[in-house]
Amino acid sequence: MKLCIIGTGYVGLVSGTCFAEVGHEVVCVDNNPEKVRQLQGGSIPIYEPGLEEMIPRHVREGRLRFTGSIAEGVAGAEVVFIAVPTPPQEDGSVDLSFIEGVAREIAACMTSYKIIVDKSTVPVKTGEKVAETIKRYNRAKVDFDVVSNPEFLREGFAVEDLMKPDRIVIGTLSPRPVAAMKELYAPFNAPIIITDIHSAELIKHAANSFLALKISYINAVSVICEATGANVVEVANGMGLDRRIGRQFLNAGLGFGGSCFPKDLSAFIKISEQLGVDFRLLREVQAVNAAQMDRFVKKIVDTLWVLKDKRLAVLGLAFKQNTDDVRMSPAIELCQRLLKEGASLRVHDPKAMSKAQAVLPPSERVTYVEDMNDVAADCDALVIATEWPQFAQLDLERVRGQLTHPILFDGRNLLDKAEMERLGFVYKSVGR
Ligand code: UGA
Repeated sequence: MKLCIIGTGYVGLVSGTCFAEVGHEVVCVDNNPEKVRQLQGGSIPIYEPGLEEMIPRHVREGRLRFTGSIAEGVAGAEVVFIAVPTPPQEDGSVDLSFIEGVAREIAACMTSYKIIVDKSTVPVKTGEKVAETIKRYNRAKVDFDVVSNPEFLREGFAVEDLMKPDRIVIGTLSPRPVAAMKELYAPFNAPIIITDIHSAELIKHAANSFLALKISYINAVSVICEATGANVVEVANGMGLDRRIGRQFLNAGLGFGGSCFPKDLSAFIKISEQLGVDFRLLREVQAVNAAQMDRFVKKIVDTLWVLKDKRLAVLGLAFKQNTDDVRMSPAIELCQRLLKEGASLRVHDPKAMSKAQAVLPPSERVTYVEDMNDVAADCDALVIATEWPQFAQLDLERVRGQLTHPILFDGRNLLDKAEMERLGFVYKSVGR
């Protein structure tokens, strides 16, 4: 099928690439000319495993194109995806101006029947507004359908999640777009759920909020574990084997971050508020998440006492493993909190060092270190802030020799507690 994807962020770029991978013909549109030039030249603006190989191959074989023109993308497409950002506003609500702008542009150039699919995460009832806008601005008065098709990919595993999705949600009850969407997704061999448009929109906010709730739940349990001497990893393992609960998203740590969970929780709380409902449960999820960071900073301060003029090594800057994304990263927040306490930092991340420099500029008190095994040189303690699996392969004997005192704070429970104690570290993790 012929597709147009508007927006080449994580969702748009990876979806477009994966649609090309299963044989569709895809035109990706972006309003940033520099980004379009980069992509046309085969260079990928984000780190996402798999993309580097897939994009140039599909461009070469003619299944994937990039342009700055919505009119060009829409002209030949049967299905037009909207995958533009929906950033948070100060009051927690979502800024829908990019969605509205794109809807108007699609309307202005649409001359034949199109299926317009919203893939961006949006508040319930946005689809209705998109349909009204397109109707208002389409002078040719052609037929169209608006569908909600939320995306559930995780950064760092986006290609894998898109190629093998748990489910595909299609929000529309009109038969014409349902048939086309089923054909589009047939190669992915995943369960397809057809719902009304409002329910599809809600599924996304409800799912992300539930996953955030799961993390806050285990983080709250980790506090009880610390108070009693229990081990939160054992508790999570025991809970997770119950198939009704599942082990995923039960890793206690510094709390969740990223460009999705914090924003989506605020948005869902705001949407509820506008409907006259106080979603207190989700406000508590936010509060637990914030407290988890406070508690970890306190743990460091309680152990090292005064941080002024101390040197701390920090492993991890990305908001999680496998990505170079530092938006709303708990690791960056932790660094900022430690700097505020007066510490100097030596930091390392396998992929996020360049993006991190924009929010945590190198200075006399912030040194970026290329090799993770050098980060601890002459430091008073080492802190693990992101769950990169390679941090578990750290040369611990070397690190112990580099630290002025062998103190390690593990904010992601990556290392083996017994082994750390055997090696003579003062080892503090979360809920263990
Ligand atoms: C999340 C969802 O998992 C995706 O399904 C969704 O499509 C995406 O948001 C989105 O709305 O676009 P993502 O933000 O990429 O994906 O990352 P996650 O893997 O969900 O991790 C989010 C945060 O939770 C990270 O900071 C991670 O470190 C933290 N986390 C995750 C924990 O603290 N504990 C866990 O057990 C799992």
